[in-house]
Amino acid sequence: MRIGVLTAGGDCPGLNAVIRSVVHRAVTHYGDEVIGFEDGYAGLLDGRYRPLDLNAVSGILARGGTILGSSRLERDRFAAACDNAKALVEKSGFDALIPIGGEGTLTAARMLSDAGVPVVGVPKTIDNDISSTDRTFGFDTAVGVATEAMDRLKTTAESHQRVMVVEVMGRHAGWIALESGMAGGAHGICLPERPFDPADLVKMVEERFSRGKKFAVICVAEGAHPADGTMDYGKGEIDQFGHERFQGIGTALAYELERRLGKEARPVILGHVQRGGTPTAYDRVLATRFGWHAVEAVHRGDFGNMTALRGTDVKMVPLAEAITQLKTVPADRIREAESVF
Ligand code: F6P
Repeated sequence: MRIGVLTAGGDCPGLNAVIRSVVHRAVTHYGDEVIGFEDGYAGLLDGRYRPLDLNAVSGILARGGTILGSSRLERDRFAAACDNAKALVEKSGFDALIPIGGEGTLTAARMLSDAGVPVVGVPKTIDNDISSTDRTFGFDTAVGVATEAMDRLKTTAESHQRVMVVEVMGRHAGWIALESGMAGGAHGICLPERPFDPADLVKMVEERFSRGKKFAVICVAEGAHPADGTMDYGKGEIDQFGHERFQGIGTALAYELERRLGKEARPVILGHVQRGGTPTAYDRVLATRFGWHAVEAVHRGDFGNMTALRGTDVKMVPLAEAITQLKTVPADRIREAESVF
């Protein structure tokens, strides 16, 4: 068989582990030919690809990023190019395509599948917000990075009697903030799923200071926002120089707390540090399992589906089911976290 692989959307630790696993299973076990499209769907649409043999994937298991490159997708452009992509896949003699990516990539995979391309998806995102899979690889690594950052920030916060506001990734879902906040022992956690009131954070910090704990670390997801009317933070306002006043919720919240508390506060934006570098053992294993199962699905002719972790098993689930809605943090998980900070 001739199998195409691509990685699209924001990169994520573990992508190379999937590529390696696909190549190992397909080439060694089935004698397949594996081709890697460059820069995500852009490579598919432009016909840019290269052969992937065992040597091409040697030594990449522990490497972050993706050896194939990635790009974000303009959904409309892709929809228009879908028939073209199908023709390209047929012309190049591909028997199957394995796109590895997040919600946008899997939506495009679904479009291709609907257009008749034999597709098996592999979900990835550090945000862990794809429905139908209990976990995505990359998440464990991101949580580890953010947790380590909080451990480190606590010592400097304590030395200077400061409030540290750590902004982690997660535009629509607060999984990284929730789990790194719990693991890092944050004293406050703000999630997109539940608007926060800065007055509650002020109360928490004052209570800590009054019992001699003269520092605090607050973990805030980039998509978190204050409850209506609780904080004027300049969202959408353009200053006299044409710049948006809003510099991200972490920065806005740190300065708001500093103003209200009269104590020093510092914002720390972790940003893409969470996406770079080597994947954890957990992410390498999950990514490797997803790659193995994707090749098995190709050989069963199990198309239009994606790999998913259900409990401890990897199953195939319909792409359509995976992209209908994002998996956000449920209320009971928020309640559990509240009891520890
Ligand atoms: O979806 C993954 C993610 O890392 C989000 O957490 C974050 O909001 C976004 O990608 C950042 O995207 P970009 O790399 O395009 O700035």
